[in-house]
Amino acid sequence: MEKYKTILVTGGAGFIGSNFVKYMLSQHPETTIVNLDALTYAGNLENLTDIEDNPNHIFVKGDICDQDLIPKLFKEYDFDAVVNFAAESHVDRSIENPGIFVSTNVEGTQNLLDNAKKQWTTGKDEEGFPTYRDGVKYLQVSTDEVYGALGKTGMFTETTPLAPNSPYSASKASADLFVRAYHNTFHLPVNITRCSNNYGPYQFPEKLIPLMISNVLELRDLPIYGDGMQIRDWLHVKDHCSGIDTVLQTGKMGEVYNIGGNNEKANIEIINLIMENVKKHLSEGHVEGVNTQPDQITDDLKIHVEDRLGHDRRYAIDNTKITSQLGWEPSYTFENGIAETIDWYLNNLDWMENVKSGGYQEYYDKMYSKK
Ligand code: NAD
Ligand code: DAU
Repeated sequence: MEKYKTILVTGGAGFIGSNFVKYMLSQHPETTIVNLDALTYAGNLENLTDIEDNPNHIFVKGDICDQDLIPKLFKEYDFDAVVNFAAESHVDRSIENPGIFVSTNVEGTQNLLDNAKKQWTTGKDEEGFPTYRDGVKYLQVSTDEVYGALGKTGMFTETTPLAPNSPYSASKASADLFVRAYHNTFHLPVNITRCSNNYGPYQFPEKLIPLMISNVLELRDLPIYGDGMQIRDWLHVKDHCSGIDTVLQTGKMGEVYNIGGNNEKANIEIINLIMENVKKHLSEGHVEGVNTQPDQITDDLKIHVEDRLGHDRRYAIDNTKITSQLGWEPSYTFENGIAETIDWYLNNLDWMENVKSGGYQEYYDKMYSKK
């Protein structure tokens, strides 16, 4: 029997959330997933077409900040777990417009915590703390960015002090502190996961990897922020999903778990790799519907633009806790994962075109014309 009968997954039409919903339906076929997503610019029902007929997937369009909808959903579906992905997730947008990061990422999280607490409370213990129904859990999907930036050496562990540098990471760190406070003050059964940079299918092309694939194919400039030597620690999205599931099933209540796969790469290495890989596919004639010729992909496309304000130099996750205590490990090597990911984008050009139409073009012109 599955541990969880009905799980509320928020943000399940976005990049990681949609991968997670599919992962859970395949791994836990008896679990029902209620997928709540506001369908902002980053939410896309096309990410979910292959599960639209699955009776164990119920999609609800709505906002995690909605104080009427959330209690209604808790009553209707009687969730025994919540996994909160819903967020404004892009650092550059948080520099342009920090306010929405506070409402979605902080207030939205607090609204979910409050409803989980109310709905799951069964009484009080002798010290006055609430007691909860057996087997319930709230899991907050957080990020390594809450730890700030590293110098040339060292790694983030779960005890690294929080030192967020961008409005995005400040909002995620604030949300984490609310989760911590609900556990400490109300004994709400919670976990927090903090993952490094994800890559894989269905990532919105404002983020480095899909943006560069799209621009290489269209022979647009490849905007490298600053010197391009900033380091990110990359993990395939499916490994992130299996990490979250591991914590959901076996994580010790109240604990934080870092998730990462030891794949540090400088941005410039990623861009070079994408250029080479796309070139190879074009030479082999594998990409239909693209007029770009392999010899048009040259270093002239690479343009160093103005750096991101407050740009974190390096991230690196120490994954010892989740690997040694919960037995999780990543299944992808970076080489296999990135090759499979580039293939996916080249085979799904319609998906890319659809997400880039409309508001995306406006966003792109606004952000990159200044750089
Ligand atoms: P994304 O931007 O692709 O998706 C976010 C989803 O949340 C979208 O579907 C959007 O419609 C939805 N959403 C936004 N505001 C909402 C609201 N008020 N109510 C309901 N739904 C709302 O983001 P992602 O990259 O998939 O990230 C998902 C989560 O994982 C975020 O919490 C992010 O902080 C965290 N995370 C991301 C990465 C990464 O590399 N992308 C790494 C670590 C952690
Ligand atoms: O570390 C986890 C985080 O990873 C998540 O919490 C965030 O939600 C996610 O967006 C991601 O944040 P980053 O800022 O690291 O990702 P992004 O893809 O925006 O940028 C990756 C690196 O590439 C960063 O150093 C900035 C650089 N960059 C990005 C873009 C979009 C460029 O040089 N040029 C670009 O055009």
